[in-house]
Amino acid sequence: MNPEICVYAGSFDPVTSGHLDIIRRGAAVFPKLIVAVLRNPAKKGTFSVEERLSMLARSCSDIPNVVFDSFDGLLVDYMRKVDAGVILRGLRAVSDFENEFQMAQLNRQMNPQVETFFLMTSPEHAYLSSSAVREIAMFGGDVSGFVPAAVLDEVTQKLRK
Ligand code: PNS
Repeated sequence: MNPEICVYAGSFDPVTSGHLDIIRRGAAVFPKLIVAVLRNPAKKGTFSVEERLSMLARSCSDIPNVVFDSFDGLLVDYMRKVDAGVILRGLRAVSDFENEFQMAQLNRQMNPQVETFFLMTSPEHAYLSSSAVREIAMFGGDVSGFVPAAVLDEVTQKLRK
C-alpha cells in the first residue's frame, strides 16, 4: 500500500465548503489525493453519483494532484484496489469522534496496512454538513456561504422545488 496515495471517501451529497477545505489541505500534504464517492445501494441520495463527481471536479479544478472516482463495497477493499495507504477524514465537532473512532478502528482491523489521518475542520465549517445544506436550500435559504461557488446554481436549482 502506497502511503503517498490518500483517499478521501464520502457521500458528498452535495460537496460543501467544509469538504473543499479538507480536500485542499489534504492535497497540500499528500502527493496524490483520490476523492471517492460511495455508491450506496441502501441510500439513493439527492444528487446522482455522476452529478456529485461533476460538482466535485468543478470545485477542485485548480488543485492539480486530486482525482475523482466512485466505489462500492468496503472502503478497505477499494484502498487495496487503488494501492492507497491513507484514508483522510475531517473531524468537525466532538460529536463526530465516536463514529470516526469506530470506523478507523474497524478499517485498521480489516487492513492493518491502511492508516486513517484526521484533519480538524476549519472553525468556520465546524457545523456544516451536506444534510444541513440540502435542508437550507430546500426551504429557499441562501447556501452561498456553505457550498463552493462552482456548484451553487446546481445545488439551488435542484433543491428549490
Ligand atoms: O460522507 P460520509 O457519510 O461521512 O462517508 C462515510 C464513508 C463513505 C466513508 C463510510 O460510510 C464508508 O467507508 N463506507 C463504505 C463501506 C465500509 O467500508 N464500511 C465499513 C466502515 S467501518
